[in-house]
Amino acid sequence: MERLQKVIAQAGIASRRKAEELIAEGKVKVNGKIVRELGTKVSANDKVEVNEIPLEREEKIYILMYKPRGVISAVKDDKNRKVVIDFLPEIKERVYPIGRLDYDTSGLLLLTNDGEFANLLMHPRYEINKTYVAKIKGIPSRQSLKQLEKGVKLEDGITAPAKAKLLSADKKTQKSIVELTIHEGKNRQVRRMFEAIGHPVQKLKRERYAFLNLHSLNAGESRELSPHEVKQLRALAETGTGLQ
Ligand code: URA
Repeated sequence: MERLQKVIAQAGIASRRKAEELIAEGKVKVNGKIVRELGTKVSANDKVEVNEIPLEREEKIYILMYKPRGVISAVKDDKNRKVVIDFLPEIKERVYPIGRLDYDTSGLLLLTNDGEFANLLMHPRYEINKTYVAKIKGIPSRQSLKQLEKGVKLEDGITAPAKAKLLSADKKTQKSIVELTIHEGKNRQVRRMFEAIGHPVQKLKRERYAFLNLHSLNAGESRELSPHEVKQLRALAETGTGLQ
């Protein structure tokens, strides 16, 4: 049995607070009857409706995927390009990506059908570390790397403190590999940060998401997160501390 507001939030319809409001406003029915009690608990067999629309009550599932390059982080694409869902084994649950990676970016992507969990992880306040490895043009100076760490000015604001590490530099080809850890999720942020310091990205991969990595997966492969990993991610987002 679970609290009604939690069930509504998990279905991705509203935050728990908003769900409580919907209940108080008489917009929620359980087995055909309006329920206004916030403490009401429901089981998987109870039929819940919000604004007359029945709630989908699937088992919650959490997937870690190694997204290949050249794939859209979406459930479907109107131009018929490959989407991340095409790479999942047959599952009955309807999952969607938590945030996204660019079409040309490969790496760690989480997917779920738990709307509340997705919102929690995507909320900028919770500062989950994401580590990228970028192949860039040129060899950045120590000062340029410091700039990435302190914050660079983008058209939508200054980036928050980050960590940058030069992994290798090839003087002959004038290319470098840099690891960058950020905890924001501005659109194309990593590419724009390197662009801002004069070193455009040629290849980008997300290697880590909080404590999760891509170990033992090849591009296009995925695995389910363990209940413990899900719990750890939730705790990390809720407390904003540790485990990273
Ligand atoms: N930053 C980018 O520039 N691209 C991504 O896909 C993710 C982060």
